[in-house]
Amino acid sequence: MCIFVAYLKKTERIFMQEFLIKDLATYEGKQITLKGWASNKREGKGLAFIILRDGTGWCQCVVSQESVSEEVFNEAKKVTLESSLELTGLVVRDERQIGGYEIQVNNLLLIGTSPEYPIAKKEHGVDFLTDNRHLWLRSQRQWAIMKIRNRIIFAIHEFFQNDGFVQMDAPIFTGNACEGTSNLFETDFYGDPAYLSQSGQLYGEAMAFSLGKIYTFGPTFRAEKSKTRRHLSEFWMIEPEMIFHDIFDNMDLIERFLRAVVSSVLNDCKKELEIVGRDISVLENIIKPFPRLTYDEAVKIIKGEEDVNGKNAITSLEDEMKKVEARIIEINTDIAAREEKIKTPGMKKGEIGFNQAQIDKLKQELADLEEQARNIPQWLNSARNFEYGNDFGGSDETVLTRLFDVPIMVYNWPHEVKAFYLKRDPNDSRFARGVDTLAPEGYGEIVGGGERETDVNLLIDKINEHELPMQAFEWYLDLRRYGTVPHAGFGLGLERLVTWICKLPHVRESIPFPRMYGRLLP
Ligand code: 4AD
Ligand code: MG
Repeated sequence: MCIFVAYLKKTERIFMQEFLIKDLATYEGKQITLKGWASNKREGKGLAFIILRDGTGWCQCVVSQESVSEEVFNEAKKVTLESSLELTGLVVRDERQIGGYEIQVNNLLLIGTSPEYPIAKKEHGVDFLTDNRHLWLRSQRQWAIMKIRNRIIFAIHEFFQNDGFVQMDAPIFTGNACEGTSNLFETDFYGDPAYLSQSGQLYGEAMAFSLGKIYTFGPTFRAEKSKTRRHLSEFWMIEPEMIFHDIFDNMDLIERFLRAVVSSVLNDCKKELEIVGRDISVLENIIKPFPRLTYDEAVKIIKGEEDVNGKNAITSLEDEMKKVEARIIEINTDIAAREEKIKTPGMKKGEIGFNQAQIDKLKQELADLEEQARNIPQWLNSARNFEYGNDFGGSDETVLTRLFDVPIMVYNWPHEVKAFYLKRDPNDSRFARGVDTLAPEGYGEIVGGGERETDVNLLIDKINEHELPMQAFEWYLDLRRYGTVPHAGFGLGLERLVTWICKLPHVRESIPFPRMYGRLLP
């Protein structure tokens, strides 16, 4: 008989979790029943130590042969990594334990066995982990990221709802391209081509002309055939659209909005930020004003023609490259010396173990440094050769935002590199009133937006210039034909924000099941 059926027979019906690990403090000195999974297990003489996780937290549960029946102790012995189980025991305060409490178990029931759990303790490569994303999500770090993501989503709704915005759902099947034709996913819509939405903005504009201030919150799709740490094929975008807002009102809103969202995370996710190892001092800078730079000013900084707080983009990278190279030599020498030491006859076991642990640590640092040594020359190269008038690439954004410890806003872009719907700057027609918000610490663009063109003829010119099918945009042009008003909006990439807030090395960890070039499973 399978374990699960046996469990059901014993319990007759499934009861919900009455007690949760997050509430252990309220149950000190009491007997409670916890249900969850064994995220770790260790055995000692007559003892089994199980780290139980139940979705709300982790706690150590001790099964002592002396205080339980033989049947229960045998059941505990069957527990392996990620077995599911139910246990009953006394809640005891113990500062040294994870979460500060321990359960002294007197009964235990296995629910589901877990023979040879694929993600064991040892270090796995990121491809292996992503292949096993359905299991990887159970790890403490992924749990913390998903909790932070959830808090961000809630904070976004809180902010807009409290600010008088109405949430709207834009369609996913669309007949037109909002953000250019180069990265559309085409599908078959009853025999006609339809595209998965790249952005809900155009529909948001229509809705704003009914409700004043709206925001969308939905999945968006970009067929980007490149593997970068910033790009997903499917991501969630939040797009507010406001009537009677110009680019500067838009920037004020972006700043207020990001400040509110980051502050909520700082208030409510201290434990989770600690688990992901985030240095929160940078996040705390969110209360400072966001520097606003024109495209022209930003280009000067990237090219090293202007400094930021005494720091030069080019020379600071050159200095860093020198430091990285020197440290690589130092580490290699250190590793060689320790490896030599391990081989020395007569070395004690403890000393060998110590040196091996140091070598492993140094090798990890070396891998990170070697990646930097590959990246920095590329960043330098793109900064030195940046051509005025181009859009920023990932490297340019990295070079620029490494100089800041707070998000920055870059506005007034050459109109040729930005979307067709942006308003031409009335003071200088070379520029469009777009604004990108770039996260600091090298993260780059998290928000793109701007003021919208209101003149129907200028829009028609732009649609032709971008070689977009006019017929699919007729409805959009109606918004300008019938009672046009000044308006603006922006789009926040949810995963880019999660990635920066958690300081993740790659956007793939910011979404439950990433969809990227070369990745459709699990
Ligand atoms: O800058 P984008 O393309 O702007 C728009 O789509 C506008 N229609 C938004 C608006 O004004 N309503 O995209 C907005 C944001 C980017 O700043 C970035 O954060 C995110 O969406 N984004 C991506 N995130 C992950 N993977 C991708 N491939 C992304 N492309 C854009
Ligand atoms: Mg953009």
